[in-house]
Amino acid sequence: MAEHIEILVGTTAGNTEFLASELETEIQQKGFTTTFHDAPNLPEVTKQGIWLFCVATHGAGEYAESIEGFMEQLNQEKPDLSNIKFAIIAIGDSSYDTFCQAGRDTDALVQSLGGVPIHDVLEIDMMFDLEPETSAIQWLAQWIDKIA
Ligand SMILES: Cc1cc2nc3c(=O)[nH]c(=O)nc-3n(C[C@H](O)[C@H](O)[C@H](O)COP(=O)(O)O)c2cc1C
Repeated sequence: MAEHIEILVGTTAGNTEFLASELETEIQQKGFTTTFHDAPNLPEVTKQGIWLFCVATHGAGEYAESIEGFMEQLNQEKPDLSNIKFAIIAIGDSSYDTFCQAGRDTDALVQSLGGVPIHDVLEIDMMFDLEPETSAIQWLAQWIDKIA
């Protein structure tokens, strides 16, 4: 049976949602099923299989708006994520000292709850990367065929 991927999006202004939906198309073309969570809510997310986070940093190193509540739920409820394998695309802008901090914090938090990283975090610098979707698809290709 094809693997299922939960896509968890952290966006405030929409860039990351666009990138995540491009990625979703690519993932489905590879034969995976997906659920797209544009504002993830812990009870609605399967606690096994694969989670793919696409998370922008806002404020001064804070989570983007659509995923703030989810991160709060993880921090409060501390679910056992040992049945989760996960990957992260961190979106940010290197003009900020707290470059991609939300993605880095996501990585630390999910690992602390037992989640197993599939691949290195992809940090996308919106200051210089003119084709973030292409970067994301190239990064995806480095690991997705290995988990099929
Ligand atoms: C008010 C504001 C604060 C930001 N703070 C950070 C930051 O601390 N670190 C970082 O890497 N990027 C930061 N960024 C850059 C955003 O991550 C970047 O613009 C990204 O594309 C936003 O994604 P979104 O459209 O999905 O919300 C900030 C952007 C704005 C507008």
